[in-house]
Amino acid sequence: MIETITQLAALRERIRQWRRDGQTVGFVPTMGNLHAGHYSLVALARQHVDKVVSSVFVNPTQFGPNEDFTRYPRTPDADTSGLHAAGCDILWLPEVEAMYPFGVPLASNVHVPGISSVLEGACRPGHFDGVCTVVTRLFNQVQADVAAFGKKDFQQLAVIRQMVVDLHMPTAILAGAIVRETDGLAMSSRNQYLSQAERATAPGIHRCLLAMRDAAQAGQPRAQVEADADAQLRSAGFVPDYAVLRCPDFSEPQDGQAGARVALIAARLGRTRLIDNLEFELP
Ligand code: PAJ
Repeated sequence: MIETITQLAALRERIRQWRRDGQTVGFVPTMGNLHAGHYSLVALARQHVDKVVSSVFVNPTQFGPNEDFTRYPRTPDADTSGLHAAGCDILWLPEVEAMYPFGVPLASNVHVPGISSVLEGACRPGHFDGVCTVVTRLFNQVQADVAAFGKKDFQQLAVIRQMVVDLHMPTAILAGAIVRETDGLAMSSRNQYLSQAERATAPGIHRCLLAMRDAAQAGQPRAQVEADADAQLRSAGFVPDYAVLRCPDFSEPQDGQAGARVALIAARLGRTRLIDNLEFELP
């Protein structure tokens, strides 16, 4: 049976017991309202360790002033039973007051320069500082051997990997594949904000990513691929923040050069902002 822990001292005691018994520990940080994408990360962590902790904490410091922090969906009962079914051992459920007893923000801030300021970072100033600072704190609370993150948040994964390398964090990072609905829409807690009509439009992001891949693989120049993607999204009813082709390290690829690529899209549909991406190879 999954155990829900809300106090840091109790969490540390439970993990100390596991360590005394020689067991390894995996960690899956989340903001709750869990779906198959999150549960796939629990299953991924399970393959590498004996025990899995998952946290549910809607972290205020990674939301901008006009973003959806207050309306972000909170479903603790469904999350608890879903995590239990997924094979998670502990749900770490700190309250905001326990995480931020002296208020928000903290005096300390974890900032990963460069990669944090492009694309998502440019659209959401301060977002990755909020993510990195809370993930550092969660890592220090759990002290896991491995932690699993989803490729759905491709840039977040890259920022976390950079942070872990730079700061010698002893937690190995695992990357989980994007889990999609049958029509291609990447699973996201934010999908439930969509009206019925918007939900029917939303898989257009995945279709656009596939078209970007096909065009790039057919030899189209990057500028053309990106302009066509932007137009395709707009004509489907999205307001794109970006639709770009990048190397996996976020540098801009040279046309005609072979190698790994990732197409990344962030686009608004009504009041909802969706992100998705697709990795592929250019031969
Ligand atoms: P959240 O959006 O809840 O996502 C938690 C983890 O689930 C992230 O690693 C994310 O990439 C992964 N995930 C979400 N949807 C997915 C999908 N469709 N397929 C695969 N993985 C998916 O990301 C956060 O929370 C926060 O920023 C957090 C890291 C918890 C820090 O607050």
